[in-house]
Amino acid sequence: MIRTRFTDTFGVRHPIVCAPMALVTGGRLARAVSRAGGLGIVGGGYAGILGGEPDLAAELALARKETFGVGFITWALEQEPSRLEEALACGPSCVFLSFGDPRPFAPKIHAAGAKLICQVQTLRHIDEAMDAGANAIVAQGAEAGGHGGARSTLPFVPEAADHIARRSPDTLLLAAGGIADGRGLAAALMLGADGVVVGTRFWASAEALTPTAATDLAARMTGDDTRRTTAIDALRGVAWPDAFSFRMLKNEVTEAWAGREAEARAAFGSLQARYDEARAKGDLAIAAAVAGEAVGLIRDRPAAGDIVEAMAREAWIRLSTAPTRFARPGNWPAMQNR
Ligand SMILES: Cc1cc2nc3c(=O)[nH]c(=O)nc-3n(C[C@H](O)[C@H](O)[C@H](O)COP(=O)(O)O)c2cc1C
Repeated sequence: MIRTRFTDTFGVRHPIVCAPMALVTGGRLARAVSRAGGLGIVGGGYAGILGGEPDLAAELALARKETFGVGFITWALEQEPSRLEEALACGPSCVFLSFGDPRPFAPKIHAAGAKLICQVQTLRHIDEAMDAGANAIVAQGAEAGGHGGARSTLPFVPEAADHIARRSPDTLLLAAGGIADGRGLAAALMLGADGVVVGTRFWASAEALTPTAATDLAARMTGDDTRRTTAIDALRGVAWPDAFSFRMLKNEVTEAWAGREAEARAAFGSLQARYDEARAKGDLAIAAAVAGEAVGLIRDRPAAGDIVEAMAREAWIRLSTAPTRFARPGNWPAMQNR
């Protein structure tokens, strides 16, 4: 088994976290991931302000048989801060905050005895997370499904590792964005992460709340078939801060509005009624099927526990066989003697 600072500090068997995906990571998925030795984090999403979100208390009750966390979209939580207290009362081991300033919420989280995980997209966000006393920071690359920033996982994770090591070496680092199998986990650990946060792969798991039509569609898609844009949030009237865009499978709406983001901003909310109706009906030509570039690595919808085990096993095999696969005896000393 792979042992890291994350497995030790969070008391889990595998350095694999299931992302708190709004409308997707309910209690059953979080519980299945934790039962398999990862860490499942229930998606508290928009803290109720979006409408049509699952009942968080009910989902947390489902997760409760195992260690679990809860996650919120920080700017939405600012509008409904009581949701944090309600969630903390259910005894999560950690709270995962993303997309906004975590500092106002940190004291309450720490006082409740929960660990704080902050997902970040820039170095400035890392500084805010360290100011908040985050126990772990998630460096999220733009490959990720759902909302995110502009940096790419491959250079962002090691830069984050160096940045954190300089100021707060005990703070853990997790990598997110494009990690869907053991190759991704092994690579992230080599970049300096203590573990990974996985969304898209668990989005297509048996226990996820994802509609079957979305994962059936995804099974035919490649990593080329996603788009990151701010247009959809503007058109559907969800007031995301400008810094964050939304990656999803391409559909009629993303393609009609590709490259027209300023125009979409001016048309704020104009698609709201049609979008909500499409979401309710499962019409994916208009409503988003939310997945990242890793969709090209996904062809099935297995049990989440099987995903955790396969990912951990494959990463361990790759890491433990690396010396025999890549090292040439004598190569490095010979270079030094030149
Ligand atoms: C369907 C979906 C919904 C998401 N919702 C949230 C969310 O509500 N809050 C959040 O912090 N991150 C959310 N994310 C982003 C994840 O936290 C994570 O960064 C991302 O999934 C990692 O990249 P990957 O999708 O390539 O695994 C979501 C991702 C997906 C795919």
